[in-house]
Amino acid sequence: MGGHSNKQVKDDNVKRHATRTISASGLLLSVMRWTFLIISISYLLYTSILLLPNHGKECSPNLTKQKHISHINSTPAHSSFYAEEQTPHLETPPSRRFETQLKHIVFGIASSASLWEQRKQYMRQWWRPKEMRGVVWVDKPVRRHRRNEVLPEVRISGNTSRFPYTNRRGRRSALRISRVVSETLRLGLKDVRWFVMGDDDTVFVVENLVRVLDKYDHRQMYYVGSSSESHVQNIAFSYGMAYGGGGFAISYPLAKALEKMQDRCLKRYPGLYGSDDRIQACMAELGLPLTREPGFHQYDVHGNLLGLLSAHPVAPLVSLHHIDVVDPIFPGMSRVNALHHFFESVKHDSASIIQQSICYAKKQKWSISISWGYAVQVIRGIISPRELEMPSRTFLNWHRRADYTGYAFNTRPVTKHPCQKPFIFYVSSVRYDRSRRQTVSIYSRQKVRYPQCQWKMPSPSMIDTIVVFKRPDTLRWHNSPRRDCCKIFPSRSTTLHLSVGRCGDGEITEL
Ligand SMILES: *[C@@H]1O[C@H](CO)[C@@H](O)[C@H](O)[C@H]1NC(C)=O
Ligand SMILES: *[C@@H]1O[C@H](CO)[C@@H](O)[C@H](O)[C@H]1NC(C)=O
Repeated sequence: MGGHSNKQVKDDNVKRHATRTISASGLLLSVMRWTFLIISISYLLYTSILLLPNHGKECSPNLTKQKHISHINSTPAHSSFYAEEQTPHLETPPSRRFETQLKHIVFGIASSASLWEQRKQYMRQWWRPKEMRGVVWVDKPVRRHRRNEVLPEVRISGNTSRFPYTNRRGRRSALRISRVVSETLRLGLKDVRWFVMGDDDTVFVVENLVRVLDKYDHRQMYYVGSSSESHVQNIAFSYGMAYGGGGFAISYPLAKALEKMQDRCLKRYPGLYGSDDRIQACMAELGLPLTREPGFHQYDVHGNLLGLLSAHPVAPLVSLHHIDVVDPIFPGMSRVNALHHFFESVKHDSASIIQQSICYAKKQKWSISISWGYAVQVIRGIISPRELEMPSRTFLNWHRRADYTGYAFNTRPVTKHPCQKPFIFYVSSVRYDRSRRQTVSIYSRQKVRYPQCQWKMPSPSMIDTIVVFKRPDTLRWHNSPRRDCCKIFPSRSTTLHLSVGRCGDGEITEL
């Protein structure tokens, strides 16, 4: 605005000046001045066009292209099992990313000689030795790996007996474990962007870890993780602390800054309980806040994770912790087999693993909540999305009590009404249909007794199997977060066919 009026004043001055010179001097001079005037005016015009916000050249072809695509795909498809017909433009707008890859991450895993033998079976489920770098830190020598073992190298942590530790409930090993990032940094590995810390009973969905870290500039200082599910724990420790079991990431420059000061810092907090509150105390000294990513899961709970895994936040699942504490995530399987089974789904569409979608069967009046790659629940009656997206309290709190006030997010009760007990279908297999470019995941009804229901409506017990079609969506997190939409294909058999994918234009979850 200011620039514009200034320009006019200047132009007027030039004009006035020019008029005076014609009468005063010779023709040659005036021609030169007029030429100068024309050149400067056209220069001003040209630059003002360049400076306009929406000047055409680069943007408009893309804009028209995008409009065109969304128009074509806005037709709803109920007629076939092609998930892709439902999926609108899988194109992604340009966003700021840093091309971070798995090779740029170094893991520091906290373990101990006494637990490693048992815990390494969890690590085998997610560790890929040729693609990942990392070290498992223990307190004493352990048995060497067998040859061909698919696990990272094991190292013994430095001696921490010189550091004070006065907390009566905790253990001194907290000192050793809080130094894992610094000790891993001191190994001097090349081309490291992020140090990721986890426990030996943490499993990572590493593709999603990369997706999350890729959003942040690794050349700057970042402390990325999540707090606990337990409100009480967060009050006792801090809402600003990344819980170590859920895992957290520290960018290279921050790791360097931490390494320089950590041993001095550790001496200032002998009364703290664990390793992660010690890290946070040092972060506070460095002035570094926690960057929250809701996909890291400490899981300070007991019992059945179904409620949490069926209503995950609309954010990529990064980690699961306390595998030993909670029930196996699939009933009737060992913990290790359940994890193995889970990672079979992860392989097919890691970005969407346990992402929720909701749909309603009109005729039967059922609500259907899908947790992709994990479980589908069918419930009699229409339950609104705002309720279904709250985890149901299938789990207990850290003190093994049913608790409705104790969580740092909204939850809903497990209904006692005999008609509203969910029919749960756990994933049995996932495959990729290459010709239709979609995944086909099959879910089987859990064989348990359901209470008698007097409601005059079809029972979901008539369904044995649910088949979900979905196109893998590796770029979904480049867009703003949004729950996937879901469609039901009409059918009379004991198999229910659903299709899940990005919502189309104007598509919402309603009956
Ligand atoms: C925009 O169009 C240009 C040329 O037509 C192309 O190079 C570029 O990749 C497009 N960008 C997007 C986001 O589609
Ligand atoms: C650790 O250091 C202390 C002295 O600072 C020493 O007494 C102790 O033996 C050391 N422990 C180990 C395992 O080396």
